[in-house]
Amino acid sequence: MTSETTGAATGVETLPDFPMTRGCPYHPPAGYGRLREAGPVARVRLFDGRTAWVVTGYEEARRLLIDPRLSSDRARPDFPVLVPRMAAAKLTALVGMDPPEHDVQRRMLIPSFTVKRVNGLRPAIRRIVGERIDAMLAKERPQADLVQEFALPVPSTVICELLGVPYADHEFFEEQTRRMVLASSTAEEAAAASAALMAYFDELISVKQARPGEGLLDELIADRLATGELGRTELTSIAMFMLVAGHETTANMLALSVLTLLVHPEQLALLRADEGAAAGAVEELLRFLSVADELQRVAAADIEIGGVVIREGEGVYLPNAAANRSAEVFPDPDRLDIRRADRRHLAFGYGVHQCIGQNLARAELEIALYELAVRIPGLRPTEPVEALAVKPGGSVQGVYRLPVAW
Ligand code: HEM
Repeated sequence: MTSETTGAATGVETLPDFPMTRGCPYHPPAGYGRLREAGPVARVRLFDGRTAWVVTGYEEARRLLIDPRLSSDRARPDFPVLVPRMAAAKLTALVGMDPPEHDVQRRMLIPSFTVKRVNGLRPAIRRIVGERIDAMLAKERPQADLVQEFALPVPSTVICELLGVPYADHEFFEEQTRRMVLASSTAEEAAAASAALMAYFDELISVKQARPGEGLLDELIADRLATGELGRTELTSIAMFMLVAGHETTANMLALSVLTLLVHPEQLALLRADEGAAAGAVEELLRFLSVADELQRVAAADIEIGGVVIREGEGVYLPNAAANRSAEVFPDPDRLDIRRADRRHLAFGYGVHQCIGQNLARAELEIALYELAVRIPGLRPTEPVEALAVKPGGSVQGVYRLPVAW
């Protein structure tokens, strides 16, 4: 066995740097192609000179995501830090835990996100989307930043209503979220932002204990905190993670979806012509855009896969934008085709941590994209979209702004 296959740190300086940033908002970084050429599981160098593994193969990613030898436990001292801010704002709920503790938290939340529960939320989502489109159409000048005026407020409002968080606080929590999740944040900024959000939820829980409301957070206080099943810090972490995960990913996905449809007008026309096409369009956009791109784990034991041996304690990254562009699974993978039949993408992850909010995200995206297509048929970007600034690798992928007119 060579040093390369055992993963020993040789020639670190010649390894590709990771994470990688996109050159175009809707395509994976060009470097993913080069990683793929090195094999389905390839070694990379992180910002601090450590090495880690990146999985670009679709089958290898699926196998690893259900492999209990890969740990999500961010409390482990050897959990790999992809960018400095991750060391500071460590996720201690759900996605940062392993079974069996993870499963206990997950089971408490699952009933709120079933297809049936989400279908019950569809009228509220339609109302929220409609209000945002009305506000855009009522503007004196027919132009807007679609991120600020649509893509961000829609999922923010929805998750606030679901959790029972006052939307009036949105500027505060959106700003803290940005500082927590952007790879360009310093460790200090990320730590301060996560502490501010924890303090915010601690206070909100006290308010709700005094005056109960109707959201998921109120249910968790009554059914789990009061019974001692959840500790207060645990509930505060869960609430923070749900709020962050519930708006940040969907907002980026919504903005990038609109951007992508605007540069694929024939696909947009298919959606506009038939609301029945919305579900397929969303599935294909999830695959094509893969915004939650850098899933991360640490090996809790040696794992032999894809011609290499991942050693215990080594970091493993599973960028789903790589797996979701695998030609063996998705023929002509770089083409957007909203009628594509194969929906086995990994955009919501796979295995025990697969996204809890996926039914909700799908409903929001379907309604928002269809309504926008039908109600503002003249929507167009006012700047070349390929040149818009993209968020750095190691963040949820997206653009900071999307200037449009109609
Ligand atoms: C388009 C939008 C979304 C995308 C692309 C997305 C993507 C993902 C991915 C890839 C994971 C797995 C992470 C991993 O395995 O390390 C995940 C987990 C999770 N997502 Fe989402 N998500 C989206 C929307 C939402 C929404 C709306 C919520 C709502 C409340 C949500 C809540 C969660 C939670 C709680 C987890 C952790 C589940 C666990 O660890 O058991 N997500 N998401």
